[in-house]
Order: sequence, then structure tokens, then C-alpha cells
Amino acid sequence: MKFVVTAGPTREPFDPVRFLSNRSSGKMGYALAEAALQAGHEVTLISGPVQIPAPKGAQFVAITTSEELYGATRRAVENCDVLVMCAAVADYKPTRVAGTKPKKKAGTFSLKLTPTRDILATLASGAHDYFVVGFAAETNDVEANARHKLCSKNCDIMVANDVSRNDRGMESDRNEVTIFFREGGSKTIAVAPKKIIARKLLKIILSARENSLTKKTC
Ligand code: CTP
Repeated sequence: MKFVVTAGPTREPFDPVRFLSNRSSGKMGYALAEAALQAGHEVTLISGPVQIPAPKGAQFVAITTSEELYGATRRAVENCDVLVMCAAVADYKPTRVAGTKPKKKAGTFSLKLTPTRDILATLASGAHDYFVVGFAAETNDVEANARHKLCSKNCDIMVANDVSRNDRGMESDRNEVTIFFREGGSKTIAVAPKKIIARKLLKIILSARENSLTKKTC
């Protein structure tokens, strides 16, 4: 089976040396790519800037901005069975990017921001053959928010993780995730190293796809 996995943060520049980004380490996406490779699948890993070497055997695409991520992912999904959108895409990008490094001035500094494209919602809309797995990064009301994203972004399943804690989720080697299905059920994978979570999650993704566990009810 052919997997496209996105991972890590995006960077949205506002001048030649500065950008907006987030704390994503890429560990969850890389662990999923590795798990899929170990299970004998083909993997295209599309990654923002992280401190992890590309897994051996993956087709690796490095991106920086959300628009680069969109372009690379759109091309890769043309020929895939499963899209796993694990990347932490910036929600906004600076409206203007200065061509030279602006000089510091007294007083406050404001940045005007423009929403980025919702890559997941875009690639999950319209006719497609691939199974779509979204990730929801939440700090509160995890179930309600994840379920809302599952439907509004037209995913087949939504994997939620609580990013308000320091002992799991963003940057940590460990995670706990709850997978929400469109027909209403959910499964929680208890806190464990991300590599273990990835192996369990891969099995759930494959079985949901295989058994059509998920009915499009929203
Ligand atoms: N996502 C995306 N494009 C964006 C923003 C998010 O493709 N511009 C994807 C992420 O890769 C993830 C899912 O949407 O699979 C949910 O991302 P998340 O950051 O949890 O939610 P947002 O859509 O950004 O909504 P909010 O910030 O309001 O929680």
C-alpha cells in the first residue's frame, strides 16, 4: 500500500531571517512513516524542518512553508492509498514578506497575517480514492473539537492528541491518542512511546480502511 505522511512544522517567513512556526518535533509523523515502512508499505514522507534523519526506504520530500507542503502533498496523493496529515501546519502566514531585513525601530511592531490554505480539507474534498487521516492538536474540549474537525475537514478518521501537557504530545517522545471514527465510535491508545503508538495506530488505520469501519455520516 502507498502512504503519504506529512510531518513536522511549517515555517512562514516575514523577512529573510525570521518566520512564524510552532513546536512540532515531527516525531509522531516520522514514527508513523517508520512503522508503515517496517510493515512493508511504500512511504512518501513530506516534512517540515525537524531534527530527525529521514527514515531509510522512504521517499523523502523536504518543505518549509505551508504552500510548499500543499504543493508536495497534492502531487504525492495523486498516487496513494492513505494520506496521513500529521504535519502541524501554520494557520496564518505573514501577509507581506520583506525582501530585506527590516531595521529595528522604537515602539511596538505589528504583523498582518493571512490565513493559510487548509491542506487537509482541500485534499479531502472532492472525489478521491485515498483514505484520509487527520490529526487534531487540542488543548481543551478534545472530543468535541476533534469530532468537529473530522466532519468539517471530511476526513475518514481523526486522531486527537492533547497538546496541553509536557509529558506527552508536542516535542515529547511519548503520546496518547484517541481515534475518532465517522460512525461515532472512538478508540484510545494509552500513553506510550510514539514508536509504539505509531505501530498501533497503523493497524487501526489499515483496519478502518479495510473494513470500512467508518461510514460517512457527517
Ligand atoms: N491542517 C492543514 N492545513 C492547515 C491547518 C491544519 O492541513 N492550514 C491539518 C493538520 O495537518 C491536521 C488537521 O488539519 O491534520 C488539524 O490541525 P489542527 O492544527 O489540529 O487544527 P486547525 O485546523 O489548525 O484548527 P484550530 O487551530 O482551530 O484547532
